[in-house]
Amino acid sequence: MSSQDIPEENLPAAQDHAHGSVSVADEETPFADPGMPPHEHRAQDIDERAAKRSERAVALLFTISMLATLGFIASYVTIPHDKSIFVFPIGHISALNFALGLTLGVALFCIGAGAVHWARTLMSDVEMVAERHPIAAEPSVRAQVFDDFRQGAAESGIGRRKLIRNTMFGALALVPLSGVMLLRDLGPLPHNSLRHTLWAKGKLLVNVNTNEPLRPEDVAVGSLTFARPEGLEETDEDFQDQIAKAALMIVRLLPNDIKDKQELAWSHEGIVAFSKICTHVGCPISLYEQQTHHVLCPCHQSTFDLSDGARVIFGPAGHALPQLRIGVNDEGYLEALGDFAEPVGPAFWERG
Ligand code: FES
Repeated sequence: MSSQDIPEENLPAAQDHAHGSVSVADEETPFADPGMPPHEHRAQDIDERAAKRSERAVALLFTISMLATLGFIASYVTIPHDKSIFVFPIGHISALNFALGLTLGVALFCIGAGAVHWARTLMSDVEMVAERHPIAAEPSVRAQVFDDFRQGAAESGIGRRKLIRNTMFGALALVPLSGVMLLRDLGPLPHNSLRHTLWAKGKLLVNVNTNEPLRPEDVAVGSLTFARPEGLEETDEDFQDQIAKAALMIVRLLPNDIKDKQELAWSHEGIVAFSKICTHVGCPISLYEQQTHHVLCPCHQSTFDLSDGARVIFGPAGHALPQLRIGVNDEGYLEALGDFAEPVGPAFWERG
């Protein structure tokens, strides 16, 4: 309905708002200013029932947004991450991702749609003229801005239309909960799982290349061998988590070359086993210099002396590589005599 369809007596009194001045072209201003078109009243300006309908529509959109946010939270908590559904024409997709995307999309869309509908149908639609002015605002201009803001707030009806105001605040307050819920993905807490590995008394040392348990005679002087604990398979669901802690490197030294007494006591016939995880930021160590018995981390060149308790002789690593105490079982295989005596990996532990 436009203002042309409404009897003259039902239209609101003419307002004082300027619609722009009309000017004709002359020599100084060669382009005529036609001024603003006549203002047309909206149905909501002249019909209280139409205004109420718009108010309810806006409140409904904000309410849907609140429900969608609650749906987002419910989906996140209840839908298993491995459940999939068929959605035409996309095909099979994750039910959790679909539900999270749909509910968050609806929540944000309804806030936007509610705000737009509110502005288009209920807030003042009088054309405003903003004159250009210098960038540095005069005190009087700042005062004018505050006055305009107060006037805009009054004209938006935010104080008078409590239903819209309350539902909007509710929608805006709830929608950040979606982000808060996603923080749950940072968990679960590791508790003390990072302080222990799969190594335990009696676990055989398995060669990662041959998948065979190692015997002392398999480890030659000057060679570098990598091992994992017996029972840990690449097909295990937590293989990466476990091997990141339990990866082991084995070297055979001449017993006389071992300077550190504890290292010698924890070795078997010169065979020593150390964590393969660099104590700087956790890269896997892979370079061995057999003449010097040094191992080198390729990430930042930390260097450890395997003949002297794997102490750091160069680079940013904070402490020596943890050693695994080993022995030989009745069948002649190399076995662990327990877990590492200290946590493996970066020096976080010294600060903890
Ligand atoms: S991770 Fe090994 S030196 Fe940085």
